[in-house]
Amino acid sequence: MGLDRRTLLRAAISAGAFSAAWPLTRGPGEAYAAAAALGATWDAAPFTVGVASGDPLPTSVLLWTRLAPDPLGDTQPLPDIVQVDWAVATDATMGTVVASGSLAASVLLGHSVHVIAEGLQPGRRYWYRFSALGRTSRVGRTKTAPVGAVSQVRFASLNCQDYRAGEYPGMRDLAADSALDFVVHLGDYIYEGSELGTAYTLTDYRKLHALYKGDALLRDLHAAHPFYLTWDDHDVFNDYSGSRGAATFVARRAAAYQGWYEHMPLRLEAGDDSALPDPRIYRSRQWGDLLELVILDLRQHRSEQNLADGTILGARQKTWLKDRIAQRGNGWQCWINSIFLSQQRAPQGGFMFTDQWDGFRAERAELLAHVHTAGGPDFVTVTGDWHSAFIQDVKPDFDTAGAPVIGTEFVAHSVSSSAYSASWNATNGPLLGAANPHLQYFEGNRYGHDVYEVTPQRWTTRLRVVSSRTDPSAAVSTLTSWHVDRGRAGAYEDPATRTSAAQYRR
Ligand SMILES: [Fe+2]
Repeated sequence: MGLDRRTLLRAAISAGAFSAAWPLTRGPGEAYAAAAALGATWDAAPFTVGVASGDPLPTSVLLWTRLAPDPLGDTQPLPDIVQVDWAVATDATMGTVVASGSLAASVLLGHSVHVIAEGLQPGRRYWYRFSALGRTSRVGRTKTAPVGAVSQVRFASLNCQDYRAGEYPGMRDLAADSALDFVVHLGDYIYEGSELGTAYTLTDYRKLHALYKGDALLRDLHAAHPFYLTWDDHDVFNDYSGSRGAATFVARRAAAYQGWYEHMPLRLEAGDDSALPDPRIYRSRQWGDLLELVILDLRQHRSEQNLADGTILGARQKTWLKDRIAQRGNGWQCWINSIFLSQQRAPQGGFMFTDQWDGFRAERAELLAHVHTAGGPDFVTVTGDWHSAFIQDVKPDFDTAGAPVIGTEFVAHSVSSSAYSASWNATNGPLLGAANPHLQYFEGNRYGHDVYEVTPQRWTTRLRVVSSRTDPSAAVSTLTSWHVDRGRAGAYEDPATRTSAAQYRR
């Protein structure tokens, strides 16, 4: 087995091979040599960073690509405006085209392309591709959202994919999963800093995103399934809050958001609150009558932590979320929640981290009381950020023993970003359990993602883990499966996996 990306990086730094700050500065030759050493490859120019689709609705889906003949370059060797053609077909050979068009890719948005393909049929697969400058992109596959009665949905979540920390073998498994309907990304798609330097400017963030898209498995996954997206702190800067900070931070955040948008299949509707540099990305999406995804933005609109009147949502998103809770349908409601929702007392007292919802306790209590009074126990939240797996009861009051269970939180392993050590997990798993009676399960020694299989009767979460995060060919397997039965709040572990490894079970 070859050396992993992190080891290669450290070896290169100690040897002085890449001097400093790649991929953010230095000449292009050095940057590409470093990228090659880390295993980066790209699709043929100009579609180097691949194709993607996102935010499916019943009759439309967002199609994305970016023209970047020189993915690690400061600028692209392209005219300011390049015309790009797109087509959607009902077959993988693009034989029967059902939608097509042409649009201008502008240097102002890094020659990225975001096109909404409309007039599609609900709940079916489509294939798409782009052409420009006499070249044709790879063919991507997508799917529209169904309407009406739906008997099953199968989706996956990803979070925390630090490129320097590991490979993405789990993405191969997901790309090959033809039964998957879509993928959700919970943020930390990139990490702004590394031993090699830190991103500050739009050019920096563009190159960082282009580096991540240099992972072939990530590109293949985007080409295989549509994504619903949110972001977290490292997509900009560690633990940032809203727009608080000096003008330099606001400028940096704008650069990061634009770089993120230019590389993501994100649908922005018309209207002032959708526009860069501070686009509204929270939204609700329906998968027939079975599932509502309530996609949250827990970074852009938040206040500082630990204020009596603090907010993680911001006033407008909070009003919107309360409406979503009150107006929920008869299916499952799932919050796409980038950061730990449930209370997490530290073993030594206080809270583990107040960058998560624990730093916004009054607002959380208000919202979870609203979930409780709105009724319907079929509430699930899917969470990233922590780099370890937690499964826990959601309660309107975590400090009162008899408080009702109103839903379940599934916190997923990270794709590649480093977790705590095995010894930390062994010591602290039981201590976290003792300090947090709503915690059912904790496992922190593995990497991977979660897959969700949802029917009208039952929600199932499978913790899919990789045998090694340093081997892009590593095997993927199910560590454990948990179910929630419709109408009965609270998750239970599948009997077949109750003896699997974990550092805590209640
Ligand atoms: Fe992370």
